[in-house]
Amino acid sequence: MENGKWKMENGVPNSTLHTPHSTLTILRPDDFHIHLREGALLRAVLPFTASVFSRAILMPNLSSPLVSVPHVQAYRNFVEEELALLNQKNFIPLFTLYLRHDTNLKELADGYKNNVFFAGKLYPSNITTNSALGFQDIASVYPVFEAMEKLDIPLLVHGETPDPDVDIFDRESVFIDKSLVPIRKRFPNLRITLEHITTSHAVDYVLSEYSPDKPLKTGATITPHHLHINRTDIFSGGLNPHYYCMPIAKREEHRKAVVQAAVSGLAPFFLGTDSAPHVRTRKESGFGSAGIFNAPSALALYAQIFDDEQKLHNLETFASRNGALFYGLPLSSDTLTLKKELTSEKTDDIKPILTEDMQELVQFISPKQVFWNGKWKMNYF
Ligand code: NCD
Ligand code: ZN
Repeated sequence: MENGKWKMENGVPNSTLHTPHSTLTILRPDDFHIHLREGALLRAVLPFTASVFSRAILMPNLSSPLVSVPHVQAYRNFVEEELALLNQKNFIPLFTLYLRHDTNLKELADGYKNNVFFAGKLYPSNITTNSALGFQDIASVYPVFEAMEKLDIPLLVHGETPDPDVDIFDRESVFIDKSLVPIRKRFPNLRITLEHITTSHAVDYVLSEYSPDKPLKTGATITPHHLHINRTDIFSGGLNPHYYCMPIAKREEHRKAVVQAAVSGLAPFFLGTDSAPHVRTRKESGFGSAGIFNAPSALALYAQIFDDEQKLHNLETFASRNGALFYGLPLSSDTLTLKKELTSEKTDDIKPILTEDMQELVQFISPKQVFWNGKWKMNYF
């Protein structure tokens, strides 16, 4: 839908694109997939997200995964206390329940009705960080999907097959064909978000489910790093553990397909950074952890891709509208102004972030030049 129309309908401030594109003002965006962790790590990363995004969906794969509603409530209390300390009143965290075949269905219904959590998150077992409690046989989780469909609880899914015999680069496609297609058939009204898509197959699948005149049931988040790197970048000039995440980056043709989906402005595609910090010693080691920490520059990274594709006019749709509309949330009334510099930031100047216990967090640095920066201005209304 044309931007101006939404503005009129929602009575929100105008978004402005100054030419030549040196600043861009958009409605304050939402991050619909992020790992904020807990303890010292959370304290180190929370300000990056809370100062930029209007809302964020927080993932439940803590070291002790949030498999029950009391677990989610305890995490919620912790995050809300930290936000109060930061004096961040303009940021709303949305919580998730870690789904299992034995998720208590009464607790699921009550917890959702009482707004303890916003969505359920499904992980395949042992595919990524803290996913040991994920599913092995997806059919065993069907009773949970049935309850979620009835209650209209969004199902957020890490879309990779847990089958260890499937090649790591094929896991997303195999999941779509063998698991997602049957789930969609059996639960036609279940709202499903296919998280952090990385392949043209995922883009095609999501588009095949999309029709502008039907209620949207299948959405997809797209990360900034999957827009910036392909699988070759992981190995260029030596093995780069800070480009290692799940789903792993794919071939260039897939990156290009995901870029086209993001910049299209089409309703099913929206912003989810999957910023997933691990301390440097966990990344730069044998059996290093999967996860890319992009929160400090996520919005600038997205803006650069939209700019490169001459689609900056669709950034607001992708970052601030599509996800909110999919989840039935009101659009933000605040705006944010991004700035573009004449020269890209020197990568040597980008320093690690320190946690309070002096652990280092290495930020994602794109192999591409990034002229947009993180020195944005927020306008609260
Ligand atoms: C995430 C993490 O570290 O929690 N890692 C990742 O590679 N994306 C988990 C996830 O979303 O898969
Ligand atoms: Zn994630």
